[in-house]
Amino acid sequence: MHYRLVLLLPLLAMTVVAGSAQIRSGSDEALAEMLPPGPGRETVKESCTTCHNLKIIVTARKNRAEWDQCINDMIQRGTALFPEEIEPISAYLVKAFGADVPAAVNVNTARREELQKVPNLNAEVVARIIEERSKSGGFEKAEDLRQALKMEKENFEKFAYLLKYSN
Ligand code: HEC
Repeated sequence: MHYRLVLLLPLLAMTVVAGSAQIRSGSDEALAEMLPPGPGRETVKESCTTCHNLKIIVTARKNRAEWDQCINDMIQRGTALFPEEIEPISAYLVKAFGADVPAAVNVNTARREELQKVPNLNAEVVARIIEERSKSGGFEKAEDLRQALKMEKENFEKFAYLLKYSN
């Protein structure tokens, strides 16, 4: 009987690991949509996700000095970055998640005025979002919203990173 258990245990362990990797990549994908396009995006995705996921980054709001300080801290903690990657990452983070950038809003429940405060989201698109959400009852994910608005990915991504779909 014992040999079966010996065979079974590694199999069980592998299943658990595969399962949790799947869950992690699912939420990482949704979080990656909260990174706007721009130079630095790929480096953040690659270098800043080995110890924690992106949530801690996309919810942070910092000025230039604070992002510089944060990146230094992360390097001290062991983040692998080439020296020439530091400045683009810092410029990218301060533009995307600067101290004056509002927190992400829930596109399914936000009031018109809240949506209008989202950078790069103009009044016309806000009106279309409100119309589409009352027709469909809301959006589950970014791609649903993009299709409802019939927008090109390039234009959509300029504001979509500050929208969320649940709380
Ligand atoms: C080697 C592991 C590691 C890597 C890689 C890493 N971090 Fe962190 N990070 C941490 C740890 C550990 C904490 C928690 C520190 C704490 O509790 O204050 C943290 C916390 C943070 C925080 C929240 C605290 C704060 O300063 O506001 C932010 C933002 C952050 N990291 C950004 C980044 C960015 C941007 C990168 C990529 C340049 C990155 N991290 C890469 C280890 C890492």
